[in-house]
Amino acid sequence: MKLVLIGFMGSGKSCVAHALSKELHIPVIEMDKEIEKKAGKSIKEIFAHNGETAFRHMEIALAQDLRAKEHVIISTGGGVVMNKIIIDYLKEHDGKIIFLDASFDEISRRIGNDTSRPLFQDKRLAQDLYEFRLPLYTNYADVIITTNGKSIPQVVQEIKQTFYNT
Ligand code: S3P
Repeated sequence: MKLVLIGFMGSGKSCVAHALSKELHIPVIEMDKEIEKKAGKSIKEIFAHNGETAFRHMEIALAQDLRAKEHVIISTGGGVVMNKIIIDYLKEHDGKIIFLDASFDEISRRIGNDTSRPLFQDKRLAQDLYEFRLPLYTNYADVIITTNGKSIPQVVQEIKQTFYNT
């Protein structure tokens, strides 16, 4: 099985992926990190030098490379739902899509001052994006885990319970 974590920036995808990896002994692939490695620059630099469209193409190409992966946890970037083809690739080979659902207020508290996320520099625009994407995350999800007020171990436990009954 392949566990694919989706959700808005700051929803905890990467922290949950690593905690889950330790519990289940399954490796993690972080899509943003893979793209940074391939491009030789940070996400912020990719947006500044190449633009968002180029970044989205990189996401699509990476998802295509990952389609045959099995027994892995994939932590996605918050914008993968903007291109359905990415979700289609990630669902191949028994990919399960897990949406980590956090309120915008909670997300804002977590990452409101982070300058490394190009699409979270203007809070109002970020909130519009959040509202636009919410139905996409919901529709693509096999499972929705609400994370408001929950610790990482609690979220990990819920995921384990859902997929492994433990
Ligand atoms: C993005 C989310 C980021 C990163 C890029 C674009 C988005 O990942 O992929 O800045 O469009 O929501 P995180 O969700 O890990 O912050």
